[in-house]
Amino acid sequence: MVSEYSFNGLRVTAFESRRAKEIAKLIRYHGGVPKVAPSMREIPLSEAGEALSFAEKLFKGEYDLVILMTGVGIRALKDAVSEKYPLDDFVTALNNVTLLARGPKPLAALKELGLKPDIVVPEPNTWRDILSTLDGSFELKGKRVAVQEYGITNTEFIEALKERGADVTAVPIYKWALPENLEPLKDAIRSIAENEEDFSLFTSSQQIYHLFQIAEAEGLEDKLREGFKRVVIGSIGPTTTETLDRFGLATDYEPDSPKMGNLIREMARCGRGLLKKKRTAFENGVNTNHWHKVDMVWDKNLQYGRKEITEGSVFMKACRGEKTDYTPLWLMRQAGRFMREYRELRSRVSFLDLCKTPELAAEVTLGAVDRLGVDAAIIFSDILLMLESFGIGIEFSKGEGPRIRKPVRTGKAVSRLEEFDPGSLDFVYNALKITRRALDPGIALIGFAGAPFTVASYAIEGGGSKNYENTKGLMYKDPGGWHDFMGRLSGATAVYLNNQISAGADALQIFDSWAGALSPDDYREFVLPHMKKLIGGIKEDVPVIHFGTGTGALLGLIKESGCRVMGLDWRVDLGEAWERVGYDMAVQGNLDPVTLFAPHSEIRKKAKSILDKAQGRPGHIFNLGHGVLPKTPVDNVLALVDFVHEYSDRKPDN
Ligand code: CP3
Repeated sequence: MVSEYSFNGLRVTAFESRRAKEIAKLIRYHGGVPKVAPSMREIPLSEAGEALSFAEKLFKGEYDLVILMTGVGIRALKDAVSEKYPLDDFVTALNNVTLLARGPKPLAALKELGLKPDIVVPEPNTWRDILSTLDGSFELKGKRVAVQEYGITNTEFIEALKERGADVTAVPIYKWALPENLEPLKDAIRSIAENEEDFSLFTSSQQIYHLFQIAEAEGLEDKLREGFKRVVIGSIGPTTTETLDRFGLATDYEPDSPKMGNLIREMARCGRGLLKKKRTAFENGVNTNHWHKVDMVWDKNLQYGRKEITEGSVFMKACRGEKTDYTPLWLMRQAGRFMREYRELRSRVSFLDLCKTPELAAEVTLGAVDRLGVDAAIIFSDILLMLESFGIGIEFSKGEGPRIRKPVRTGKAVSRLEEFDPGSLDFVYNALKITRRALDPGIALIGFAGAPFTVASYAIEGGGSKNYENTKGLMYKDPGGWHDFMGRLSGATAVYLNNQISAGADALQIFDSWAGALSPDDYREFVLPHMKKLIGGIKEDVPVIHFGTGTGALLGLIKESGCRVMGLDWRVDLGEAWERVGYDMAVQGNLDPVTLFAPHSEIRKKAKSILDKAQGRPGHIFNLGHGVLPKTPVDNVLALVDFVHEYSDRKPDN
């Protein structure tokens, strides 16, 4: 049997010991040629001395806090202790101290014992997350703390606990030894150093310590590290990634759930792309041992011009209504909270700082493309940032969405706004430049802005709204003030978008997310003239996608704005809407984002229905009817991307 995803005969090294056979089988199943070098031997502590003395101290009430690092360790601890003492006594004693579980695995192991930890550490469950969780909830000073360990003692962690005044006892449950036969490990080191391998998969931190221990002993450490510059490195989870980083190696792929099957399957899916990218970067002089996505260089002699992308990209062709080999796809909010990488970054950086740091915004933009395999990138930014340049302060508070400090409610307030300064958005242009340079030359980069109506509605309401009472209030009570505001916004947006084109945007999307709140008459009178001015002001021949929700009744009017591609939400039938706007336009859409919570079979069925409605006609870009929702499982998104590409495949030789 072969899997849907394949390494296509490429070579994959792995360092599993206990599950060596299983991993080799999985690699083979996914079309790879495995080389498994068992890197460790587990030896339960001979007399389980540490486990027993831990239990004895626990019975005497000599601990205040027990930190449980691994599920495997908890189970081993239980086995060792229950050889000598009644299990119930052990469980009761654990129940009497504060228990901290590092992540889902220790949590599950505790549950098996009928225990619930008092403190659970949030993702990504690194030792730093343990500390920051404790800092907010548990005073460590003078407390007696036991740390159930695994592998090598994490001295940094232990030291940090001691610095906070805790009396720390490390409780090692397992010790790891080198395997008895070192030949496979030596052979793997040699073949990585000699560029004979394509992928290396690490399924625990300990594997990395042992790999480097042997490499060092053989005098091959530098050669090994050098070899890794041309090998795509997969890591099972955050702790392994952290250890790779300590050894100076960047992880090229880490799945969301730390399972061997996921790691291999997902790497088989996108591994060839990653390999091509890493080797191209290496050949162009990038130090791929520790690199970021923004460091990518596709061609050191060429700054990719727009033309190349405009000609070749499937997405760009579809925007122009030309025939393509398959239906291109991208997803609104493809770079966002549903991705672990994004959440990790956001735990360290505020949303606004992220938007305003070009390297980070670019990293997030590029990350979504690598991970999902979509046909276009959209620059990471927000439609409301523009308001700051008018002197309108914005805030993004957790869980609440955007807030405008001083809403602009009257014509007078509009007249007092500051003059738009396009230079104040330099960080967006810089993010575009960095992204365009690092992005695969065949993938288009979408720049964007909010449409005047939607941006104005935030400025006027002060945040999101249901009925747009203040917005329509200004419109009806003071049309002069309204048109003044819309005029300023549309003029500014045209300049802003033109600057985005100069910085490398290949296509533009204008988000009029809330236009559906308007009657056709109001849209015609209060919005359309400004949209015409805005789109008419975009200088170059760059396709403009219009997106709005609830716009079924406005599509004809929106077409008059001059946009090239009509974005559709899921409330309209794509076939019917396309017929209505005319086949001279391209369309984008329109799967209900909530579909992505359904089983894969249902996702495929719904996506198929949309593709069938488009009938393979040139000019369809697949997308959702609105942005990806924050809790969407990545795996479902991958299933959608793959299905759309496969089902719409119309390459002549197929
Ligand atoms: O699509 C992409 O991947 C690019 C990034 C992007 C964001 N916002 C990032 C973002 C884009 C294209 C937008 C556009 C945007 N912003 C719109 C129009 C599209 C739409 O969804 O209708 C609107 C209305 C906004 C305003 C906005 N920004 C709201 C209402 C919110 C809060 C609600 C929410 O979804 O969180 C934001 C914040 C925001 N913009 C986030 C992201 C990733 C979440 C911020 C976080 O990390 O907490």
